[in-house]
Amino acid sequence: MDWQKVLATRNARMKASEIRELLKLLDQPDIISFAGGIPDPALFPAEAFRNAFAEALADDRAGAALQYSVSEGYHPLRDWIAGEMGKLGIPCGPQNILITSGSQQALDYLGKLMISPGDTVLLGWPTYLGALGAFNAYEPRYDRLDPNGNRPAASFAEAAEAAGGRAKFAYLSVDFANPTGETLDRAAREAVIDLADDLDIAVVEDAAYQTLRYDGAAIPPILALEIARKGSIEECRTLYCGSFSKSLAPGLRVGWICGNAAVISRLVLMKQAADLHSPTTNQIVTDHVARRHFPTHVATLRQTYRARRDAMLAALAREMPEGVTWTRPEGGMFIWLTLPAHIDAADLLAQSLQSERVAFVPGRAFFADGSNGNTLRLSFSCADAAAINEGITRLGRLIRRA
Ligand SMILES: Cc1ncc(COP(=O)(O)O)c(C=O)c1O
Repeated sequence: MDWQKVLATRNARMKASEIRELLKLLDQPDIISFAGGIPDPALFPAEAFRNAFAEALADDRAGAALQYSVSEGYHPLRDWIAGEMGKLGIPCGPQNILITSGSQQALDYLGKLMISPGDTVLLGWPTYLGALGAFNAYEPRYDRLDPNGNRPAASFAEAAEAAGGRAKFAYLSVDFANPTGETLDRAAREAVIDLADDLDIAVVEDAAYQTLRYDGAAIPPILALEIARKGSIEECRTLYCGSFSKSLAPGLRVGWICGNAAVISRLVLMKQAADLHSPTTNQIVTDHVARRHFPTHVATLRQTYRARRDAMLAALAREMPEGVTWTRPEGGMFIWLTLPAHIDAADLLAQSLQSERVAFVPGRAFFADGSNGNTLRLSFSCADAAAINEGITRLGRLIRRA
């Protein structure tokens, strides 16, 4: 059969992720990998989850835990999340929370909800690769959003119309972004609300790394700032995407969308159509573990990852030649390097895997237009201080040669 004849047009935009393909090559034990942006499995609260699964599957509870459940998500978990959102300056209730299978599914649903082919999504440059992947299926065009730039709102609207659609939403990874590690300051968050108000578009706030702050003062989420202006979440255009992947464990696939109840109801229809509901058992055990262990567990994560970030920043300062610059993240998992313009990070990776055996992610994939080949992403989450020192020493040597 000629499958090309039956594929929908959206397939043209759906390509294998450079990162996922790369991760397949990194199993060899002698490679020092700064490539995967994943939590350190040694830090998962495995014992707490073992106990929570045993409890959830006890004789008198197993029936409910293994049964179909409501599309909105497990009510006690939605309650707990609403309480946590309140602590961030987002007063809301369970009616404002939809549980999703990871925040990746939230991005897919929000793309499905708002993008018709040819519509425009505003996003940062670079941006989270998985967001581009999720939105691409709905065939948008992208426009570059720099919240600190002074580009007038009308220019976004005009460009979107000229392309045959409408601007629909701005997507921003706000805290310790993937891939740069950078955080949007308060003024930039306020500017995003101004722009969205002017354009009458939604804001998708990706807060996947929100809990992993190592220093500096927390900045209120865009949704909190918008509620402070407008009085209630029901008046707000911001949709906040949260996740337990970085704070507890990604394998359970539990995330959420927090937003005004009318949009959450629409998204519930999307969830019903897509997968009925997120896995019941996983939501129940996430609720148990979150209620009992969340603050202490997150404190341990912060301590460990902070030390790794500091080790990597110190090694970069020691080993990188003149002309290389990098970000200094206050949290998260990533440091973003900019190399001299003549060095292509994809070529550098090929050389590195051959001679130095250090892996990282070339930056081009994070740009909607495939530009900025001289950038790369380093993740410090899974390497101990010794591996960080050795790996950055080797990388410095390779870049000096290039
Ligand atoms: C910025 C960002 N958003 C969303 C996700 C999706 O995470 P999950 O679906 O595990 O919640 C990731 C995963 O790495 C991410 O880096």
